[in-house]
Amino acid sequence: MTTALSPTLAIDTALRARRARGEEVLHLGFGEAGLPVPGPVADVLARAAGRNGYGPVAGSAEARDAAAGWFTRRGLPTAPAQVTFAPGSKPLLYALLAAIPGDVVLPRPAWVSYAAQSALAGKRVIGVPVPPEAGGVPDPGLLAYALRTAQDGGARPGVLVLTVPDNPTGTVARPGHLRAVCDLAARHGLAVVADEIYAELLHDGGTAPRAAAHLPDRTVVTTGLSKSMALGGWRVGFARFPEGAWGERTRAEVAGVASEIWSSLAAPMQAVAAHVLADPPEVLAHIDAARRLHGAVAAAAHAEFTAAGAECRAPAAGFYLYPDLGPHRAALAARGIGTADALAAYLLERHGVGVLSGTAFGDTSDGLRFRAATSLLYGETDEQRLRALRSDDPVRLPWIADALTKLRTALAGLTAAPDRRTR
Ligand SMILES: Cc1ncc(COP(=O)(O)O)c(C=O)c1O
Repeated sequence: MTTALSPTLAIDTALRARRARGEEVLHLGFGEAGLPVPGPVADVLARAAGRNGYGPVAGSAEARDAAAGWFTRRGLPTAPAQVTFAPGSKPLLYALLAAIPGDVVLPRPAWVSYAAQSALAGKRVIGVPVPPEAGGVPDPGLLAYALRTAQDGGARPGVLVLTVPDNPTGTVARPGHLRAVCDLAARHGLAVVADEIYAELLHDGGTAPRAAAHLPDRTVVTTGLSKSMALGGWRVGFARFPEGAWGERTRAEVAGVASEIWSSLAAPMQAVAAHVLADPPEVLAHIDAARRLHGAVAAAAHAEFTAAGAECRAPAAGFYLYPDLGPHRAALAARGIGTADALAAYLLERHGVGVLSGTAFGDTSDGLRFRAATSLLYGETDEQRLRALRSDDPVRLPWIADALTKLRTALAGLTAAPDRRTR
């Protein structure tokens, strides 16, 4: 079996290489939160540099206590024994998909790595389209049918992955839809993996609905500091396992995988987790400012896409948009673009705009959809990013306004009726 580089990491490398060669590229390809490390958090890491023991597989008592308190304050009562840390939530997701028996049911589109990880774990993927309102959960009406069809075809659906809030659509599932898919999961004996890595980043400061409220005994929650704190490169992820026999068994299985693959989260990072997850005021203020910035820039980019005639769900969380250029199918066909991959390639080659094709998210290849991540528009330097974070009107900062103008120009060029003389 060969495993290609994950499309998100691959496009980031490719776009950065183009820039290094001097090409002008608008980088909308990668979901990195794009903000500097707050000083007090960097200080915690520096003070913990001397911690060089492996420590317990699940994480230190201090970090697990903090995570338990963090979940409990967010309405999900949790004991430290229910928490497991890892170097990012990605390895936890892989361990869960490998450990929970059965095939994997995914919303379509869904974050790139679930399907690739399922394949690594030898599982089939059953993709179910998301509703028009918001992504991250399958359309409840289509889920029942998809489960029956999959079973008839010999699959054994065992685990449903939900992303609330969602990547790639930047939206938050409707509570009624979440409840309906959890009810269906219960009826079909599925476990739920609830990826809540964007849950601190609702643009209106609200809270997202949770699968664990509906399926408390069989929902594992994964999250981390990569998005809320923009600490992706520090690789801090954690999971909450449910109380009870199923949760305990699954936790033990994941601990087994962890012990053979990553041993434990880096000890200094556990000190960072213990600090951040205690919700000190400077951390809450940082996340609050980040959420406002993500919301302002995503909304401005959304306005550009819809003004250009794309269909696009309004962003409600995180830093993603998932435009559909279906309304321009005829103009695009005249340019030889009939698939999502061709569209993403054309945007990059002709207009210097790097986005990730919908096919990377399991979407159909004839859908003219892609994911645009807006978080790398905040600036090229820490100084620019800090100014963006502190600004009351970040989209008027010259470098962000410039980026939006480039996007507008590219979309105008892409969607304009083709010039008959040059056809
Ligand atoms: C939906 C989703 N889940 C999980 C991850 C993985 O994050 P990490 O491994 O940094 O915790 C990402 C990162 O892009 C993501 O978008």
